[in-house]
Amino acid sequence: GAPVTQDITALQEGQQLTLAWRGQPVYVARRSKKMLDVLPSLDGLLLDPKSDNSDQQPAYAKNATRSIRPDLMVLIGVCTHLGCAPEFKPEIKPEPFDPEWKGGYFCPCHKSRYDSAGRVFKGMPAPANLPVPPYHFENDNTIVIG
Ligand code: FES
Repeated sequence: GAPVTQDITALQEGQQLTLAWRGQPVYVARRSKKMLDVLPSLDGLLLDPKSDNSDQQPAYAKNATRSIRPDLMVLIGVCTHLGCAPEFKPEIKPEPFDPEWKGGYFCPCHKSRYDSAGRVFKGMPAPANLPVPPYHFENDNTIVIG
């Protein structure tokens, strides 16, 4: 499939847009500092906090924020359990599925939870983190997936 180019100028903190790439949804989310600050505190609750499964992201995204730029998270929006679309729930507030919700992704099909870096929590039906597709920035406001 051809690369997909997207202007992200209008994408605000806590917002996400969905692109289609190779027949799959790709999420591009703008994370706030608050969302980023919480990530290290979650490591002990996660199945694979360092994303050691190399299939899960390109080498340039294997870092603490799983991204090239900390503010922008890019993920394939396909739950690693049975392929539903996880919902972006960016706010740090109690949710019906988790009174201690710290922001991230919730899969409505069988309740798998991921943090805002797409890292799956322990004890979920989903066996792995959401994958990061290949991408780069053409300039500050233009992202290219693929
Ligand atoms: Fe997401 Fe089953 S498909 S939890």
